[in-house]
Amino acid sequence: MKALEGVRILDFTHVQSGPTCTQLLGWFGADVIKVERPGVGDATRGQLRDIPDVDSLYFTMLNHNKRSITLNTKSDKGKEILTKLVKSCDVLVENFAPGALDRMGFGWDQVHKLNPRMIYASVKGFGPGPYEDCKVYENVAQCTGGAASTTGFLDGPPTVTGAQIGDSGTGLHLALGIVTALFHREKSGEGQRVLASMQDGVLNLCRVKLRDQQRLEHGPLREYSQFGQGIPFGDATPRAGNDSGGGQPGWIVKCKGWETDPNAYVYFITQAAVWGNICDLIGKPEWKEDPAYAKPEARLDKIPQIFDTIEDWTKTKTKLEVMEACNPLNIPCGPILSMKELAEEPSLRETGTIVEVDHPERGKYLTVGNPVKLSASPSDVTRSPLLGEHTNEILSQVLGLSEEEIQETWSSGALGDMPEQAAAE
Ligand code: COA
Repeated sequence: MKALEGVRILDFTHVQSGPTCTQLLGWFGADVIKVERPGVGDATRGQLRDIPDVDSLYFTMLNHNKRSITLNTKSDKGKEILTKLVKSCDVLVENFAPGALDRMGFGWDQVHKLNPRMIYASVKGFGPGPYEDCKVYENVAQCTGGAASTTGFLDGPPTVTGAQIGDSGTGLHLALGIVTALFHREKSGEGQRVLASMQDGVLNLCRVKLRDQQRLEHGPLREYSQFGQGIPFGDATPRAGNDSGGGQPGWIVKCKGWETDPNAYVYFITQAAVWGNICDLIGKPEWKEDPAYAKPEARLDKIPQIFDTIEDWTKTKTKLEVMEACNPLNIPCGPILSMKELAEEPSLRETGTIVEVDHPERGKYLTVGNPVKLSASPSDVTRSPLLGEHTNEILSQVLGLSEEEIQETWSSGALGDMPEQAAAE
């Protein structure tokens, strides 16, 4: 049995953060009903298109395992249908701009009255406070949540990261909140509000940087390479380039082929426990006994020079050869894998982390499947819905509307333009 079978989600999400959350719930078996504006749908359907007039990969890769109904929720008939949906679902998930659902008449108070068991889950840019009314996108959250100020090189500007920690990261946080609230509802019988703000989500992922902020008050951060280089610290956690976040110095070094391959690099960690193995591997066995290198403290002012020496060795090997040599010696390292390499990696296909999906309009494409595996509850990936593909099915199966009532709803315009077949009947 799928873990969330029987849970019905009213999916009022769009763009990336909210859809990430409901897609996860869908993978775990929840019935996700995505409500979209007639004729338009989620804006991402039409963004960054690679094939004309076909749902974009931006949309398809964030909306698997969902059904789509088109509904103008600002029309009278649309509100009537939405009210029925609220009463038929367990969770409402939304990531509209602050106040949009209140203006529509479906804020927490109204929804809680309509269905006291409903969990009302929102992504917003900020929590309550001076910025609560702001609209927020991925990079805004990365900047306001502490990621950008701590990412990049010391002598360069703040930098955003490719991982979508603001959108997808907050969607993940929200999914956890929803499942927790569902667990609570099992005992209390009551729904509740779940709020995940993007600033909070990014800050949570930057926890170690707030750790360093407080450590700064007690002296310089000795594991940052700027310490060894004698560069003074300011009053805030600095950007640390490719330094590792823990106490073990790490850096990205070049591998064979770096002159032409932008990803011929490896992350190499000089973990103290295996220092002897590292010295042997890179051809510096004398460093094991040399007081200038033997102890981590003695190495702090020579970290760039040590990584230069490591690089002299890694440049003679491919990144995968470095990994093969380091793993048996317990030396932690990570080859820099490109998206192309990940897409082609057979082991990721076998585990269902990279999945090939067939779409009726765009054909086959790759997506990232469920990254969380449950041993007793398998998860499959089904293609994203076409706009309004399940409108009639949801009206009849979920809301129990008769053929006549469905026709009447189409005639009202609340569902958008009537499909030709329905109009002829
Ligand atoms: N029928 C009728 N109206 C609908 C509708 C439907 N099915 N679905 C949405 N709408 C309306 C909304 O009610 C809103 O109307 P209003 O402003 O008149 O009240 C309008 O469409 C636009 O919604 P909004 O959320 O403001 O979209 P936007 O494109 O202007 O802003 C975001 C997009 C992402 C910036 C904004 O939604 C936001 O800040 N969300 C919270 C943070 C977030 O999730 N950001 C990350 C996105 S990946």
